[in-house]
Amino acid sequence: MVTQSGQYMTANPQASKCSDITSPAIPDHVAIIMDGNGRWAKARDLDISEGHHAGFENLRRVVADFAKRGIGYLTLYAFSTENWDRPESEVNGILQLAIAVIANEAQQLHENNVRIMHLGRVDRLSSELRAELEQAVTMTASNTGLTLGIAFDYGGRAEITNAAKQMISDGVAIDEIDEAKFASYLYTSAMPDVDLLIRTGGDFRISNFLLWQTAYSEFYSSAILWPDFYGEHIDRAFESFNERQRRFGKRV
Ligand code: IPE
Ligand code: IPE
Ligand code: MG
Repeated sequence: MVTQSGQYMTANPQASKCSDITSPAIPDHVAIIMDGNGRWAKARDLDISEGHHAGFENLRRVVADFAKRGIGYLTLYAFSTENWDRPESEVNGILQLAIAVIANEAQQLHENNVRIMHLGRVDRLSSELRAELEQAVTMTASNTGLTLGIAFDYGGRAEITNAAKQMISDGVAIDEIDEAKFASYLYTSAMPDVDLLIRTGGDFRISNFLLWQTAYSEFYSSAILWPDFYGEHIDRAFESFNERQRRFGKRV
């Protein structure tokens, strides 16, 4: 929500907690698989790079929309550990777009009280992209509004494998390992589980995204391609979430 002074409000304290059994009004953590840039370009006879450009433009629009809604956490799947296997020119184009978007948007997001976090590997990113990400994360670290997770070179299996390795390297004893301990070693250690997982582009699969954190997420698939997914399409996803009854395995 926007306050009268035009500032984005802090995250909504009424937003759903994952322990809720009944259907909550507002999801606390929304995650989006932003799919369909390629098909969007193809349908317009454009180069694939135009599709990714339109996708990154939409990202800007959607983040502003979510910040205004008073959502606590928004995590966006921008580049998977498998996306490196695409043609080199496409990968390079995405990396360049990511650098430009972070460089252009971080300051504005900071002024809007958004906290940026990176989820994923950093060792394979170019030094330029790594520097932009690090700067954005550091600059916004104490902001109290929307937490924006950017999943870039992210894979759920890599995240879980990495957590196991880290625990061993830290000498964590077997008796100390429980679900909470494990979760504390994930990229999302500072985030609650996902309440609503949205996938654009019409497919019904998770594509290695947030495998641990989506254990009891509500799933919403939209046929709309990512560059066109904003405004009323977000409203529809929220309406659908509102109609769900979350049971978390319990008899209610
Ligand atoms: C999603 O769009 C963006 C990334 C995976 C980086 P795609 O490029 O996968 O679009 P489609 O699925 O080919 O339409
Ligand atoms: C998922 O989309 C990854 C991102 C949106 C970043 P993909 O296009 O890579 O997924 P698949 O190949 O259709 O499963
Ligand atoms: Mg795709």
